[in-house]
Amino acid sequence: MNESEHTDQTVCHIAAQRRLVEPCSIVIFGASGDLTARKLIPAFYHLFKDKQIATDFRIVGFARREKSDDTWRTELRAALDQFSRTKPVDDKVWNEFAAHLCYCTGDLTDAAAYAKLEERLRSFGSPALRQNLMFYLATQPSQFAEIIEQLHDAKLLHSKKGHGWQRLVVEKPFGHDLASARALNEELTRYAHEEQVCRIDHYLGKETVQNILMFRFSNSIFERLWNRDSIDHVQITVSEKLGVGGRGGYYEEAGALRDMVQNHMLQVLSLITMEPPLSLESECIRNEKVKLLKSIRLLTPEDVARQVVRGQYFAGTIGGQPVPGYRQEPKVKPESNVETFAALKLFIDNWRWSGVPFFLRTGKYLPLSASEARIQFRPTPHVLFAAECGSNLDPNSLSIRLQPNEGIYLRFNGKVPGMSVSVRPVRMNFSYDAEYGAYTPEAYERLLLDALTGDSTLFIRRDEVETAWSIVDSIRDAWGDKPLTNREFYSAGTWGPVASDDLLAQTGHVWHEPRIAFD
Ligand code: BG6
Repeated sequence: MNESEHTDQTVCHIAAQRRLVEPCSIVIFGASGDLTARKLIPAFYHLFKDKQIATDFRIVGFARREKSDDTWRTELRAALDQFSRTKPVDDKVWNEFAAHLCYCTGDLTDAAAYAKLEERLRSFGSPALRQNLMFYLATQPSQFAEIIEQLHDAKLLHSKKGHGWQRLVVEKPFGHDLASARALNEELTRYAHEEQVCRIDHYLGKETVQNILMFRFSNSIFERLWNRDSIDHVQITVSEKLGVGGRGGYYEEAGALRDMVQNHMLQVLSLITMEPPLSLESECIRNEKVKLLKSIRLLTPEDVARQVVRGQYFAGTIGGQPVPGYRQEPKVKPESNVETFAALKLFIDNWRWSGVPFFLRTGKYLPLSASEARIQFRPTPHVLFAAECGSNLDPNSLSIRLQPNEGIYLRFNGKVPGMSVSVRPVRMNFSYDAEYGAYTPEAYERLLLDALTGDSTLFIRRDEVETAWSIVDSIRDAWGDKPLTNREFYSAGTWGPVASDDLLAQTGHVWHEPRIAFD
C-alpha cells in the first residue's frame, strides 16, 4: 500500500463517523443583518450544493422589516453573488436551494409573532420540520433572553426529550466580563440544556485550527517533543492589516483583549497545549481544553505591568496609503483608551508546560494580516561549529500557519554547499494549497453543519467561556481606568508599541514575523 492509499483510508474512516442532518427548520433571528447575507446563507448554500444537507429542510428568516419570501430570496441571491466562495453562483442549485427559504415578519418582543412563526413551521406539513429546530440568534446578546423566553412560551423550545430537538446557536461577544458571561449563560440555559447551546467561535471552524489536534495526535515525531524539556517558548500572532473601520461603536466596548484574546487566541493556545483527549468525543476534547485554560496562571496587577502590553494605533500608513488614528475613527471617543493591540506573556502551571513562556500578540493596523503559531525549540546544548559560525545557531522552530498560505513549516539548520563550514536555516514546508488544492470550506459551513448534526466539539462550552473570561478579567482589572501613556501608542502600519518588543527582550527573545509567502 502506498502512502496516498493509506491517507485516503484514514479520511474515509473519520468521515464515516459524521452524523447525518435530520429533516429540520432553521430559524434565523435578526435575518436582515449583515451576518445572514454575508456568511450564513452562503454557508447553507454551499452545504446544500455539496449535498451535506441531503434532507428536507427550511430556512426561515425572522426580522421586523416587512417583506415577502420572494423579496428575501432576491436580496439573498444578490448578496450570494457578491459573497459566495464559489463563483459564479450555480443557478440550478440556487433555484432548488431558494425553494427552502422563507421569511417571517415579526417583532422579537411580540408573542403574536412567535405564534405566527409556529404556524409557519406547522404549515411545512411534516412533524420534523415543526419540531427539529435550530434557532440562530443573529441579534444583540441583550435580546437573547427575550427570544428564548418567547420561544419557550410558544412551545417552540423544550429542554425535555420527546419534542424532536432544538438548538440555540449564538456568537460572541459572550458577555464583556466573567459576571456578564455568567448572566448570559444563565439566560441561554433557562429553557434549554447546555448541550442545546452552540457557542460559535469562528476560529474553530477554520481547517487549520482543526488540524492542530490532528497534527499533534496523529504524528509521533512532534508530540514527544511537545513539552518543557524541548520547547523554549511559543509565539502566537494574529495580526490584522485592517483598522476598526466602521466597527468603532462595537470596538469601543470591546478592545483587542475582549475581541480576540478572550476567544480566538485562547482557543488556539488551548489546542496547542492541551493534553491528549481520551477520545474524539466532544466532551473529552472540551474537558481537556477547560483543564488547560484553568492551568493558565492568573495575573496579579504586578504581573500585568510586567507581562502585558497594550497599545492603540495613531495615524500612519498602510501599503503606502495614509490611515487615521483610532481616536479619529467613526464612533470612537476622541480621548478613548481602548486597546487596539495587546501582547501577553502567559504561563501554564502544569507538568508539561511549567516555566515555558507563551507569547500572544494581536492588533489592528499591523503591517500584515496573518495568523501563526510558532513553536520554538530549545537550542542545542553545545555548538560544535562555534568557531566557524558563531555560538548562536538559529533555534529549530515549527510554524503552524493558520492563515493565509495555510500550512506548516519546520525550520532547521543545514550546511551551505561548498568548501567552507557554513550553517544556514532552511525550511521544510507543507502547504494546504500544494497538497489539497485551493478548496477550503468557509468556517461557517463546518460550524453550521455541526450545529445541525448536534456535534458540539467545535462549540465553546459554558465553562470554557467563563474560564477564559477570568484570565482576561485579571488583566482588565489591573488596567482599570488608567489612561494610555505615550509608550502605549503605535503608528498604524507598525508591529505595535516598542514595549511589545521589550516584553520578549526581557528573556532574550524576539518576535518572529509571520511569513506572507512560502519560498
Ligand atoms: C472577529 C473580530 O471575531 O475576528 C474581528 O471581532 C476580527 O475584529 C476577526 O477582525 C478576525 O477574523 P479572521 O477570520 O479574519 O481572522
